[in-house]
Amino acid sequence: MAVQRYPAGGRPVVSRQVNSAVRFYDNHPQPADFYAEVLHGLRRQPRYIPPKFFYDETGSQLFDAICQQPEYYPTRTEMQLLHTHAGEIAELIGSDCLLIEPGSGSSHKVRLLLDALQPAAYMPMDISRAHLLKAAQRLADDYPWLEVHATCIDFTTELELHFCPPNLHKVAFFPGSSVGNFEPREAITFLQRVAEMVGTGGGLLIGVDLKKDETILNAAYNDEKGMTARFNLNLLTRINRELEGDIEPDKFSHWAFYNSDSGRIEMHLVSQTDNRISVAGEKFLFRDGDSIHTENSYKYNPDEFVRLASQAGFESVAVWCDPDRLFSLHYFTAV
Ligand code: AVI
Repeated sequence: MAVQRYPAGGRPVVSRQVNSAVRFYDNHPQPADFYAEVLHGLRRQPRYIPPKFFYDETGSQLFDAICQQPEYYPTRTEMQLLHTHAGEIAELIGSDCLLIEPGSGSSHKVRLLLDALQPAAYMPMDISRAHLLKAAQRLADDYPWLEVHATCIDFTTELELHFCPPNLHKVAFFPGSSVGNFEPREAITFLQRVAEMVGTGGGLLIGVDLKKDETILNAAYNDEKGMTARFNLNLLTRINRELEGDIEPDKFSHWAFYNSDSGRIEMHLVSQTDNRISVAGEKFLFRDGDSIHTENSYKYNPDEFVRLASQAGFESVAVWCDPDRLFSLHYFTAV
């Protein structure tokens, strides 16, 4: 049976038992305003549409395909790090922990930690209700001893804990180098909110992509099969479908490169001709070579990231890197 509760903000939070091991809390996150953000992004110079809009159904499938490409090393390298160091990580985190994963998606990587860590409870947080419920149920089926407290929330705007027994040590898990998609200032603000959420002495286990040879970075975002290109161009198809656009995606091309001055991969969609497009009834003129900037993916040396996290109130406890120094996994505590 659904239980209605009214938190301080006055918004109803539905808490219900989904199956014997899953409890579900719904903060009713507002979907991002695709219309307003796309039009704003096309009117400004340089043109910019934020990467969160890549992930419609096709975009999410294409992202999964990117993760399988031989050139895209982050996923497999991070998984190998989690697998190799799970015992050590569990020892550092200790017992009686509430493991919280903002943006948990399919809760795939956490599986590499659960046996070693044996958390008292796991709290996946995601904005996609259907995806969250499915992943939480699957996890509870596969780990019958695990208490799962799934929370439907937009973690980029709020990090509310509906389940927070005082005896449990709170640890946030943020894999995938997703922190690299924030501007460094935004990353600090986000990590400050994470530090507040876990409280003094709480932990943060986070995956961060490393600076490295530019050829490796450029190849990772320009895979031979063209999955990253399709992922980037799919944004135009989504605009056509959802915002009555008349863009011809063939007139744009995928452009991704490492900008060494900024320490980031930049992705753009570049017009291949003089090109007039219409979106939601508004016209935009592109000259040959004009671009829409669609993503930044920042890369950090371990010491750079330790400095950034310290500005958010985290102290470094451990850093693990693979032998080729492609990817890093950091464990911090909030001070
Ligand atoms: C989700 N994020 C960490 C990916 C990245 O590498 O920045 C998104 C991505 N964009 C192109 N390929 C992968």
